[in-house]
Amino acid sequence: MKKILVIEGDGIGKEVIPVAVKILKKLGNFDIIFGDAGYECYKKRGSFLPDDTIEYAKESDIILFGAITSPKPSEIKNYKSPIITLRKMFNLYANVRPINNFGIGEVIGRLGENYFLHAKNIDFVIIRENTEDLYVGRERIDNNKAIAERVISKEGCRKISKFAFEYAKKNNRKKVTLAHKANILRLTDGLFLEEFYRVAKDYKDIEVNDALIDSTALKIILKPEEFDIILTSNMFGDILSDESSSLIGGLGLAPSANIGDDKALFEPVHGSAPDIAGKGIANPFAAVLCVGMIFDYIGENDKGNLIRNAIKTCILDKKTTPDLGGNLKTKDVEKELLKYIDRYD
Ligand code: NAI
Ligand code: MG
Repeated sequence: MKKILVIEGDGIGKEVIPVAVKILKKLGNFDIIFGDAGYECYKKRGSFLPDDTIEYAKESDIILFGAITSPKPSEIKNYKSPIITLRKMFNLYANVRPINNFGIGEVIGRLGENYFLHAKNIDFVIIRENTEDLYVGRERIDNNKAIAERVISKEGCRKISKFAFEYAKKNNRKKVTLAHKANILRLTDGLFLEEFYRVAKDYKDIEVNDALIDSTALKIILKPEEFDIILTSNMFGDILSDESSSLIGGLGLAPSANIGDDKALFEPVHGSAPDIAGKGIANPFAAVLCVGMIFDYIGENDKGNLIRNAIKTCILDKKTTPDLGGNLKTKDVEKELLKYIDRYD
């Protein structure tokens, strides 16, 4: 039986992850344990990621993670983000972020005040290198300069490129686009570009191209249908994924997987959303879509599809939280999802 560590974290992590866990328990048979991490945990226990949580993570096959509130830079010196620590500790080198509006953009159109489903059908995946780049956290002060190191390795580029092509093969994706800034970052992104095309030679059936990161950011808004898989480095991938979520109704619909060779961590793309935390209106779909990705990961795609269909039906029936234009609370959305699953499971 697969062991899953659940870390709710802070803010809306504590509201959306319980919904995800209900669905996880309903559809699967897992050994589920709970661990502490985050700002609340720091205030209670003096650590953002206590040793017992790290031990639980080591014992687990899968981690389901909510979101964590980061302290301000002035508040805590030497702060290390728990999520980045976990990604590095277990070498979860591939971050997979599907951007999909379930093919219902044209039906729904505009949703809430700020968010809308794009009128086109949106379906692409961002694959982000997850352990290198500026996120290695090598920052230092040199006199009056603050310096951050950008580290890109040949091995890292090869591994993530291979992952992207294997993912394409497995998921019937036809094209991989590398987004980079090799015109300026000639050594670091130059290396990525070189390794990418070297790996691509082994995948003749998959179309490849590359594009500068800034024009990619524009094209995501203007011509999203031109993308199938966008492969990119750590920080660019972080930025592109929030941007891309605007095409599919916002962060409430963006899940992600952090995948390593023998462990995986699933988390919504969104953070702890302090502006709405405690109001009971956080959209649980991103967290629940993570559960769908967990089922895909263990080869139970039928259950992944059931979850995606449940969410699609809720959106079509306007059974959603306010961010997607509905007037339901998180708990009511949970009920709707469970009703659907009871009917079709
Ligand atoms: P955020 O993703 O928490 O929120 C951005 C905006 O989207 C807010 O207006 C929020 O209300 C809305 N939103 C996000 N998720 C939503 C949901 N499920 N339902 C409805 N609306 C939703 O980003 P923000 O505000 O920049 O960061 C808040 C905190 O979270 C910060 O401390 C940040 O460092 C942290 N963070 C943590 C992450 C993690 O633990 N993986 C990832 C991103 C941010
Ligand atoms: Mg982010």
